[in-house]
Amino acid sequence: MKSSPGRLKSDRTQSMLKIINVVGARPNFMKVAPIMEAMKRRKREFTPLLVHTGQHYDADMSDTFFRDLDLPEPDIHLGVGSAPREEQIDAVAERFEPVIAREQPDWVIVVGDVNSTLACARAAKKLATKVAHVEAGLRSYDSSMPEEANRVETDQIADLLFTPSTDADNNLRAESIPPGRIRLVGNVMIDSLYQHLERSRQSPIRDQLGLTEKSYAVLTLHRPSNVDDPLAFGRILVALETITEKLPVVFPVHPRTRKTMATLGLSERIAKMKGLRLIEPLGYLDFLSLYSSARLLLTDSGGIQEETTVLGIPCLTLRENTERPITVTMGTNKIVGTDTARIIGAREA
Ligand code: UD1
Repeated sequence: MKSSPGRLKSDRTQSMLKIINVVGARPNFMKVAPIMEAMKRRKREFTPLLVHTGQHYDADMSDTFFRDLDLPEPDIHLGVGSAPREEQIDAVAERFEPVIAREQPDWVIVVGDVNSTLACARAAKKLATKVAHVEAGLRSYDSSMPEEANRVETDQIADLLFTPSTDADNNLRAESIPPGRIRLVGNVMIDSLYQHLERSRQSPIRDQLGLTEKSYAVLTLHRPSNVDDPLAFGRILVALETITEKLPVVFPVHPRTRKTMATLGLSERIAKMKGLRLIEPLGYLDFLSLYSSARLLLTDSGGIQEETTVLGIPCLTLRENTERPITVTMGTNKIVGTDTARIIGAREA
Protein backbone atom coordinates (compact mmCIF):
# COMPACT_ATOMS: atom_id res chain seq x y z
CA MET A 1 0.00 0.00 0.00
CA LYS A 2 1.47 3.28 -1.14
CA SER A 3 0.62 6.26 1.00
CA SER A 4 1.24 9.96 0.57
CA PRO A 5 2.35 12.24 3.37
CA GLY A 6 -0.65 13.49 5.28
CA ARG A 7 -0.42 17.25 5.28
CA LEU A 8 -2.82 18.80 7.77
CA LYS A 9 -5.46 21.17 6.46
CA SER A 10 -4.01 24.00 8.51
CA ASP A 11 -0.56 23.62 6.76
CA ARG A 12 -1.97 24.06 3.29
CA THR A 13 -2.31 27.28 1.40
CA GLN A 14 -5.89 28.43 1.31
CA SER A 15 -6.32 28.01 -2.42
CA MET A 16 -4.91 24.45 -2.49
CA LEU A 17 -7.49 21.72 -2.05
CA LYS A 18 -6.55 18.21 -1.07
CA ILE A 19 -9.03 15.82 -2.67
CA ILE A 20 -9.50 12.10 -2.22
CA ASN A 21 -11.01 10.59 -5.37
CA VAL A 22 -12.58 7.19 -4.78
CA VAL A 23 -12.80 4.28 -7.22
CA GLY A 24 -14.16 0.86 -6.35
CA ALA A 25 -15.83 -0.96 -9.20
CA ARG A 26 -15.52 -1.09 -12.98
CA PRO A 27 -17.96 1.71 -13.84
CA ASN A 28 -16.04 4.14 -11.60
CA PHE A 29 -12.75 4.15 -13.47
CA MET A 30 -13.89 5.98 -16.62
CA LYS A 31 -15.66 8.59 -14.49
CA VAL A 32 -12.71 9.35 -12.22
CA ALA A 33 -10.05 9.35 -14.96
CA PRO A 34 -11.00 12.77 -16.45
CA ILE A 35 -11.39 14.27 -12.96
CA MET A 36 -7.94 13.09 -11.85
CA GLU A 37 -6.45 14.34 -15.07
CA ALA A 38 -8.02 17.80 -14.73
CA MET A 39 -6.82 18.06 -11.13
CA LYS A 40 -3.30 16.99 -12.05
CA ARG A 41 -3.22 19.70 -14.72
CA ARG A 42 -4.16 22.31 -12.13
CA LYS A 43 -1.36 21.54 -9.68
CA ARG A 44 -1.59 24.87 -7.89
CA GLU A 45 -5.23 24.31 -7.01
CA PHE A 46 -5.50 20.60 -6.28
CA THR A 47 -3.60 17.82 -4.57
CA PRO A 48 -5.52 14.74 -5.70
CA LEU A 49 -5.16 11.32 -4.10
CA LEU A 50 -6.65 8.19 -5.57
CA VAL A 51 -8.14 5.55 -3.26
CA HIS A 52 -9.22 2.15 -4.67
CA THR A 53 -11.58 0.27 -2.37
CA GLY A 54 -10.92 -3.07 -4.10
CA GLN A 55 -14.63 -3.85 -4.64
CA HIS A 56 -13.55 -5.07 -8.08
CA TYR A 57 -10.21 -6.83 -7.96
CA ASP A 58 -9.87 -9.12 -10.99
CA ALA A 59 -7.27 -7.89 -13.48
CA ASP A 60 -9.85 -7.57 -16.23
CA MET A 61 -12.37 -5.76 -14.00
CA SER A 62 -9.82 -3.28 -12.64
CA ASP A 63 -6.10 -3.26 -13.64
CA THR A 64 -6.75 -3.07 -17.39
CA PHE A 65 -8.77 0.10 -16.85
CA PHE A 66 -5.87 1.86 -15.15
CA ARG A 67 -3.70 1.20 -18.20
CA ASP A 68 -6.33 2.06 -20.79
CA LEU A 69 -7.44 5.27 -19.09
CA ASP A 70 -3.97 6.41 -18.00
CA LEU A 71 -5.16 6.42 -14.42
CA PRO A 72 -2.31 6.73 -11.95
CA GLU A 73 -1.74 3.79 -9.64
CA PRO A 74 -3.93 4.20 -6.53
CA ASP A 75 -2.19 5.99 -3.67
CA ILE A 76 -4.08 3.76 -1.26
CA HIS A 77 -5.73 0.39 -1.84
CA LEU A 78 -8.29 -0.78 0.72
CA GLY A 79 -8.38 -4.36 -0.63
CA VAL A 80 -11.94 -5.02 0.48
CA GLY A 81 -13.07 -7.66 -2.07
CA SER A 82 -16.48 -9.29 -2.48
CA ALA A 83 -19.16 -9.56 0.20
CA PRO A 84 -22.94 -9.17 0.50
CA ARG A 85 -24.04 -5.54 0.10
CA GLU A 86 -24.26 -4.29 3.70
CA GLU A 87 -21.14 -6.19 4.74
CA GLN A 88 -19.22 -4.79 1.78
CA ILE A 89 -20.35 -1.23 2.53
CA ASP A 90 -19.39 -1.57 6.20
CA ALA A 91 -16.01 -3.07 5.32
CA VAL A 92 -15.18 -0.27 2.88
CA ALA A 93 -16.29 2.44 5.33
CA GLU A 94 -14.31 0.88 8.16
CA ARG A 95 -11.13 0.79 6.08
CA PHE A 96 -11.66 4.23 4.59
CA GLU A 97 -12.17 6.08 7.89
CA PRO A 98 -8.51 5.84 9.02
CA VAL A 99 -7.44 7.08 5.57
CA ILE A 100 -9.57 10.20 5.99
CA ALA A 101 -8.31 10.68 9.52
CA ARG A 102 -4.70 10.45 8.38
CA GLU A 103 -4.89 12.37 5.11
CA GLN A 104 -7.27 15.10 6.27
CA PRO A 105 -8.63 15.89 2.81
CA ASP A 106 -10.68 19.01 2.13
CA TRP A 107 -13.07 16.93 0.04
CA VAL A 108 -13.84 13.32 -0.75
CA ILE A 109 -15.21 12.81 -4.27
CA VAL A 110 -17.33 9.75 -4.98
CA VAL A 111 -18.80 8.84 -8.37
CA GLY A 112 -21.70 6.74 -9.59
CA ASP A 113 -23.84 4.38 -7.57
CA VAL A 114 -21.84 1.33 -6.54
CA ASN A 115 -21.48 0.09 -2.97
CA SER A 116 -18.09 1.82 -2.63
CA THR A 117 -19.72 5.15 -3.52
CA LEU A 118 -22.09 5.05 -0.58
CA ALA A 119 -19.55 3.49 1.79
CA CYS A 120 -17.00 6.26 1.27
CA ALA A 121 -19.66 8.98 1.43
CA ARG A 122 -20.81 7.56 4.79
CA ALA A 123 -17.25 7.41 6.12
CA ALA A 124 -16.53 11.00 5.07
CA LYS A 125 -19.73 12.24 6.66
CA LYS A 126 -18.98 10.40 9.89
CA LEU A 127 -15.63 12.18 10.11
CA ALA A 128 -17.16 15.58 9.22
CA THR A 129 -15.32 15.73 5.90
CA LYS A 130 -17.01 17.33 2.92
CA VAL A 131 -18.18 14.96 0.23
CA ALA A 132 -19.06 15.61 -3.40
CA HIS A 133 -21.03 13.18 -5.54
CA VAL A 134 -20.43 13.05 -9.27
CA GLU A 135 -23.35 11.68 -11.32
CA ALA A 136 -25.80 12.76 -8.63
CA GLY A 137 -29.56 12.84 -8.98
CA LEU A 138 -30.15 9.83 -11.24
CA ARG A 139 -33.20 7.84 -10.19
CA SER A 140 -34.77 4.65 -11.50
CA TYR A 141 -37.43 4.80 -8.75
CA ASP A 142 -36.89 1.05 -8.43
CA SER A 143 -36.16 0.48 -4.77
CA SER A 144 -35.24 -3.16 -5.35
CA MET A 145 -32.01 -2.08 -7.07
CA PRO A 146 -29.02 -1.78 -4.72
CA GLU A 147 -27.74 1.05 -6.94
CA GLU A 148 -30.93 3.06 -6.32
CA ALA A 149 -30.48 2.78 -2.56
CA ASN A 150 -26.84 3.83 -2.99
CA ARG A 151 -27.83 6.86 -5.10
CA VAL A 152 -30.53 8.13 -2.79
CA GLU A 153 -28.48 7.89 0.40
CA THR A 154 -25.29 9.28 -1.20
CA ASP A 155 -27.23 12.29 -2.47
CA GLN A 156 -28.72 12.89 0.97
CA ILE A 157 -25.25 12.83 2.54
CA ALA A 158 -23.24 14.77 -0.04
CA ASP A 159 -22.47 18.46 0.41
CA LEU A 160 -22.12 19.04 -3.30
CA LEU A 161 -24.07 17.24 -6.00
CA PHE A 162 -22.62 17.29 -9.51
CA THR A 163 -25.39 16.30 -11.92
CA PRO A 164 -25.11 15.08 -15.52
CA SER A 165 -28.48 16.35 -16.80
CA THR A 166 -31.46 18.52 -15.84
CA ASP A 167 -33.70 15.55 -15.06
CA ALA A 168 -31.24 14.75 -12.26
CA ASP A 169 -31.56 18.32 -10.93
CA ASN A 170 -35.34 17.94 -10.92
CA ASN A 171 -35.13 14.62 -9.06
CA LEU A 172 -32.98 16.19 -6.36
CA ARG A 173 -35.27 19.20 -5.97
CA ALA A 174 -38.22 16.82 -5.63
CA GLU A 175 -36.36 15.26 -2.68
CA SER A 176 -36.10 18.73 -1.09
CA ILE A 177 -32.34 18.96 -1.60
CA PRO A 178 -31.43 22.65 -1.41
CA PRO A 179 -30.63 24.03 -4.90
CA GLY A 180 -27.40 25.54 -3.50
CA ARG A 181 -25.94 22.03 -3.22
CA ILE A 182 -26.68 21.13 -6.85
CA ARG A 183 -24.37 21.90 -9.81
CA LEU A 184 -25.23 20.80 -13.34
CA VAL A 185 -21.84 19.86 -14.83
CA GLY A 186 -22.55 17.31 -17.59
CA ASN A 187 -21.39 13.76 -18.00
CA VAL A 188 -17.79 12.86 -17.14
CA MET A 189 -18.17 9.33 -18.49
CA ILE A 190 -18.93 10.81 -21.90
CA ASP A 191 -15.84 13.02 -21.55
CA SER A 192 -13.86 9.78 -21.23
CA LEU A 193 -15.65 8.28 -24.22
CA TYR A 194 -14.78 11.20 -26.50
CA GLN A 195 -11.24 11.29 -25.22
CA HIS A 196 -10.59 7.63 -25.98
CA LEU A 197 -12.69 6.96 -29.07
CA GLU A 198 -9.89 7.61 -31.55
CA ARG A 199 -7.37 5.54 -29.60
CA SER A 200 -9.84 2.66 -29.32
CA ARG A 201 -9.76 2.29 -33.11
CA GLN A 202 -6.30 0.78 -32.77
CA SER A 203 -7.65 -2.07 -30.66
CA PRO A 204 -7.23 -5.43 -32.40
CA ILE A 205 -10.34 -6.91 -30.78
CA ARG A 206 -12.64 -6.95 -33.82
CA ASP A 207 -9.97 -8.58 -35.99
CA GLN A 208 -9.23 -11.08 -33.26
CA LEU A 209 -12.90 -12.02 -33.14
CA GLY A 210 -13.22 -11.95 -36.94
CA LEU A 211 -16.02 -9.36 -36.87
CA THR A 212 -16.79 -6.75 -39.48
CA GLU A 213 -18.39 -3.37 -38.84
CA LYS A 214 -22.13 -3.48 -37.97
CA SER A 215 -22.39 -7.22 -38.52
CA TYR A 216 -22.91 -8.20 -34.89
CA ALA A 217 -24.58 -7.27 -31.61
CA VAL A 218 -22.97 -6.96 -28.16
CA LEU A 219 -24.60 -8.22 -24.97
CA THR A 220 -23.75 -7.32 -21.36
CA LEU A 221 -25.64 -8.75 -18.44
CA HIS A 222 -24.85 -8.58 -14.75
CA ARG A 223 -27.78 -7.13 -12.73
CA PRO A 224 -28.72 -9.46 -9.88
CA SER A 225 -32.40 -9.13 -10.95
CA ASN A 226 -31.48 -10.67 -14.32
CA VAL A 227 -28.64 -13.07 -13.69
CA ASP A 228 -29.46 -14.32 -10.19
CA ASP A 229 -33.09 -15.04 -11.16
CA PRO A 230 -33.45 -18.23 -13.23
CA LEU A 231 -36.78 -17.10 -14.72
CA ALA A 232 -35.52 -13.70 -15.91
CA PHE A 233 -32.25 -15.19 -17.18
CA GLY A 234 -34.25 -17.93 -18.95
CA ARG A 235 -36.55 -15.43 -20.70
CA ILE A 236 -33.55 -13.46 -21.94
CA LEU A 237 -31.94 -16.66 -23.25
CA VAL A 238 -35.06 -17.59 -25.23
CA ALA A 239 -34.99 -14.16 -26.87
CA LEU A 240 -31.29 -14.59 -27.63
CA GLU A 241 -31.95 -17.98 -29.22
CA THR A 242 -34.10 -16.16 -31.80
CA ILE A 243 -31.93 -13.06 -32.21
CA THR A 244 -28.73 -15.03 -32.74
CA GLU A 245 -30.29 -16.93 -35.66
CA LYS A 246 -29.89 -13.76 -37.73
CA LEU A 247 -27.32 -11.67 -35.88
CA PRO A 248 -24.27 -13.00 -34.04
CA VAL A 249 -24.05 -11.71 -30.47
CA VAL A 250 -20.76 -11.19 -28.64
CA PHE A 251 -21.08 -11.54 -24.89
CA PRO A 252 -18.25 -10.38 -22.59
CA VAL A 253 -19.24 -12.22 -19.42
CA HIS A 254 -19.14 -10.42 -16.07
CA PRO A 255 -17.76 -12.59 -13.19
CA ARG A 256 -21.10 -12.48 -11.34
CA THR A 257 -22.85 -13.78 -14.47
CA ARG A 258 -20.23 -16.45 -15.10
CA LYS A 259 -20.87 -17.77 -11.59
CA THR A 260 -24.66 -17.75 -11.75
CA MET A 261 -24.67 -19.36 -15.21
CA ALA A 262 -23.02 -22.32 -13.54
CA THR A 263 -25.07 -22.35 -10.33
CA LEU A 264 -28.38 -22.00 -12.21
CA GLY A 265 -27.34 -24.87 -14.51
CA LEU A 266 -27.48 -22.73 -17.66
CA SER A 267 -23.90 -23.14 -18.89
CA GLU A 268 -24.63 -26.10 -21.18
CA ARG A 269 -27.66 -24.48 -22.78
CA ILE A 270 -25.69 -21.29 -23.41
CA ALA A 271 -22.75 -23.22 -24.85
CA LYS A 272 -25.12 -24.76 -27.42
CA MET A 273 -26.22 -21.35 -28.76
CA LYS A 274 -24.11 -21.13 -31.88
CA GLY A 275 -24.59 -17.42 -32.52
CA LEU A 276 -23.72 -16.40 -28.97
CA ARG A 277 -20.02 -15.89 -28.46
CA LEU A 278 -18.85 -15.81 -24.86
CA ILE A 279 -15.64 -13.92 -24.15
CA GLU A 280 -13.89 -12.62 -21.03
CA PRO A 281 -14.74 -9.10 -19.79
CA LEU A 282 -12.91 -6.54 -21.93
CA GLY A 283 -10.80 -3.54 -21.00
CA TYR A 284 -12.02 -0.02 -21.70
CA LEU A 285 -10.44 0.46 -25.14
CA ASP A 286 -11.27 -3.02 -26.45
CA PHE A 287 -14.84 -2.74 -25.27
CA LEU A 288 -15.23 0.73 -26.77
CA SER A 289 -13.82 -0.55 -30.04
CA LEU A 290 -16.21 -3.52 -29.98
CA TYR A 291 -19.46 -1.72 -29.19
CA SER A 292 -18.76 1.40 -31.25
CA SER A 293 -18.86 -0.78 -34.39
CA ALA A 294 -21.79 -2.94 -33.32
CA ARG A 295 -25.19 -2.88 -34.97
CA LEU A 296 -27.00 -3.26 -31.66
CA LEU A 297 -26.37 -3.40 -27.93
CA LEU A 298 -28.40 -5.50 -25.50
CA THR A 299 -27.61 -4.55 -21.93
CA ASP A 300 -28.69 -4.14 -18.34
CA SER A 301 -25.88 -1.69 -17.63
CA GLY A 302 -26.51 1.96 -16.83
CA GLY A 303 -23.53 3.59 -18.49
CA ILE A 304 -23.86 1.71 -21.79
CA GLN A 305 -27.29 3.28 -22.31
CA GLU A 306 -25.58 6.68 -22.38
CA GLU A 307 -22.54 5.61 -24.39
CA THR A 308 -24.69 4.09 -27.15
CA THR A 309 -26.92 7.16 -27.23
CA VAL A 310 -23.92 9.41 -27.76
CA LEU A 311 -22.62 7.17 -30.56
CA GLY A 312 -26.06 6.72 -32.15
CA ILE A 313 -26.09 2.93 -31.74
CA PRO A 314 -29.45 1.24 -31.03
CA CYS A 315 -29.64 -0.08 -27.47
CA LEU A 316 -32.16 -2.46 -25.93
CA THR A 317 -32.13 -2.18 -22.15
CA LEU A 318 -33.06 -5.46 -20.49
CA ARG A 319 -34.61 -3.82 -17.44
CA GLU A 320 -38.05 -2.49 -16.55
CA ASN A 321 -36.81 1.03 -15.90
CA THR A 322 -33.89 3.38 -16.31
CA GLU A 323 -32.26 6.06 -14.18
CA ARG A 324 -31.19 7.66 -17.46
CA PRO A 325 -34.51 8.60 -19.16
CA ILE A 326 -32.77 11.11 -21.41
CA THR A 327 -31.35 8.14 -23.37
CA VAL A 328 -34.92 7.15 -24.25
CA THR A 329 -36.40 10.60 -24.89
CA MET A 330 -33.42 11.97 -26.80
CA GLY A 331 -31.33 8.92 -27.63
CA THR A 332 -31.28 5.43 -29.05
CA ASN A 333 -32.39 3.50 -25.99
CA LYS A 334 -35.48 1.30 -25.66
CA ILE A 335 -36.50 -0.15 -22.31
CA VAL A 336 -37.62 -3.68 -23.09
CA GLY A 337 -37.45 -5.53 -19.78
CA THR A 338 -36.96 -9.29 -19.80
CA ASP A 339 -40.11 -10.38 -21.59
CA THR A 340 -39.04 -12.61 -24.47
CA ALA A 341 -41.58 -11.34 -27.01
CA ARG A 342 -40.88 -7.71 -26.13
CA ILE A 343 -37.13 -8.14 -26.62
CA ILE A 344 -37.57 -9.88 -29.97
CA GLY A 345 -40.21 -7.37 -31.08
CA ALA A 346 -37.98 -4.40 -30.25
CA ARG A 347 -35.07 -6.01 -32.07
CA GLU A 348 -37.16 -6.44 -35.20
CA ALA A 349 -38.87 -3.04 -35.06
C1 UD1 B 1 -21.12 -3.77 -9.32
C2 UD1 B 1 -22.07 -2.60 -9.03
C3 UD1 B 1 -22.89 -2.31 -10.27
C4 UD1 B 1 -22.01 -2.11 -11.48
C5 UD1 B 1 -21.14 -3.33 -11.65
C6 UD1 B 1 -20.24 -3.22 -12.87
C7 UD1 B 1 -22.89 -2.42 -6.72
C8 UD1 B 1 -24.09 -2.59 -5.88
N1 UD1 B 1 -23.00 -2.93 -7.96
O1 UD1 B 1 -21.94 -4.91 -9.53
O2 UD1 B 1 -23.65 -1.13 -10.05
O3 UD1 B 1 -22.83 -1.92 -12.62
O4 UD1 B 1 -20.36 -3.50 -10.48
O5 UD1 B 1 -19.40 -4.28 -12.99
O6 UD1 B 1 -21.91 -1.86 -6.30
N2 UD1 B 1 -16.52 -10.50 -8.77
C9 UD1 B 1 -15.36 -11.11 -9.21
N3 UD1 B 1 -14.30 -10.32 -9.53
C10 UD1 B 1 -14.34 -8.98 -9.43
C11 UD1 B 1 -15.52 -8.37 -8.98
C12 UD1 B 1 -16.60 -9.14 -8.66
O7 UD1 B 1 -15.28 -12.33 -9.32
O8 UD1 B 1 -13.34 -8.31 -9.75
C13 UD1 B 1 -17.68 -11.35 -8.43
C14 UD1 B 1 -17.75 -11.63 -6.96
O9 UD1 B 1 -18.09 -12.94 -6.74
C15 UD1 B 1 -18.90 -10.76 -6.48
C16 UD1 B 1 -19.76 -10.63 -7.73
O10 UD1 B 1 -18.86 -10.71 -8.84
O11 UD1 B 1 -19.60 -11.33 -5.44
C17 UD1 B 1 -20.45 -9.32 -7.75
O12 UD1 B 1 -19.56 -8.23 -7.51
P1 UD1 B 1 -20.07 -6.88 -6.85
O13 UD1 B 1 -19.02 -5.87 -6.89
O14 UD1 B 1 -20.72 -7.16 -5.55
O15 UD1 B 1 -21.26 -6.42 -7.78
P2 UD1 B 1 -21.35 -6.38 -9.35
O16 UD1 B 1 -22.41 -7.34 -9.76
O17 UD1 B 1 -20.02 -6.46 -10.01
